[in-house]
Amino acid sequence: MKKYDNDIFLRTVKGETTERPPVWLMRQAGRILPQYRAVRASLSGFIELVTTPDLVAEVTIQPVDELGVDAAIIFSDILVIPECMGLEYEMIEKKGPFFPKTIQSISDIEKLDSGKSAAEKLEYVFNGLDMTKKALNDRVPLIGFSGAPFTLFCYMLEGSGSKTFSKAKKMLYQDPETSHKLLSKLTDTIIEYTKLKAQHGADVIQIFDSWAGVLDQRMYKEFCIPYLKKINDALQALDIPTILFSKGAWYSMEDIAGIGSNVIGIDWNMGTKFVRDTIGDNRIVQGNLDPCTLYADEKEIETKTIEMIKAFGGNHIVNLGHGVYPDTPLDGVKAFVNTVKEYHL
Ligand code: CP3
Repeated sequence: MKKYDNDIFLRTVKGETTERPPVWLMRQAGRILPQYRAVRASLSGFIELVTTPDLVAEVTIQPVDELGVDAAIIFSDILVIPECMGLEYEMIEKKGPFFPKTIQSISDIEKLDSGKSAAEKLEYVFNGLDMTKKALNDRVPLIGFSGAPFTLFCYMLEGSGSKTFSKAKKMLYQDPETSHKLLSKLTDTIIEYTKLKAQHGADVIQIFDSWAGVLDQRMYKEFCIPYLKKINDALQALDIPTILFSKGAWYSMEDIAGIGSNVIGIDWNMGTKFVRDTIGDNRIVQGNLDPCTLYADEKEIETKTIEMIKAFGGNHIVNLGHGVYPDTPLDGVKAFVNTVKEYHL
């Protein structure tokens, strides 16, 4: 008997041919939904929402109810990993993440907790997963996620978002040995954290390497690929399927494919032909419509979505090429999801 009412997402992740591609959106649980904005407005801020398990369950399920997507993604943030290692973050309205303390030296890194003892501190995340699973009641599978070591390294050195992440890159160039120490500690923590997420009901784990695009192939090979491989191997050894999304890393597609994640996330800068020529037709990809497409009229959204589905030619999970922008019209999002759900191979 099948476990989920709608299991098309999991069947695709596992390599089965399905009647249509599955669809979900990165950042589907968030400000595009009026229901989310209402919950959010009643709270002191983002961190209160992230740390309150019953509200986490509520906002995780909102896009399943409102949009009919084929998977839920647990509402949380990648920044809970630095937090459990000892570097707390704040979320500044309309600006984004801010770390009052940043990593300056090897002694700062030595002070950080890591691995199981760090990951276990994130009890609110695991409680949120338990409550979500219960409330979802096997309607669709649940995606768990983590930031990738390098993307988290960026925030821990820079202290906030950045166009260039030059402070973080400076450490890679000036002190590679110390950089590897922090990347290793992050990797150990991410492995324990994602294993716990799976134990609490996450069916698939997506790793977000959101700032991969500031590196180049040599740097990605040295500072990212080995750690991503270690994480992927640890999860797959436990039969936990993986999605790896390295945004902006077109330059390392072959190395990324070599890691062996079940699914490879594709951002919208990459052409379909380039992707298929580089990694082959048999690898499962996820993406990659430009999020701004959803500002267009419904006909245009439908045309562009179908063009993309045909171009990837199967082994494909439909998504945007990055998170949906908060001001995207809900009708545009629905046109996108409905186009995929009405499509037949
Ligand atoms: O629906 C989902 O995808 C699940 C929820 C989710 C959030 N953050 C909620 C959130 C996920 C998967 C993330 C991951 C995340 N967080 C990433 C990787 C994905 C990516 O977009 O590349 C990154 C880089 C972050 C760090 C982060 N968190 C930033 C830069 C910001 C501020 C930018 C913004 O959108 O306001 C956040 C805050 C954040 N995380 C919000 C949400 C819904 C906005 C929160 C609010 O004010 O309500």
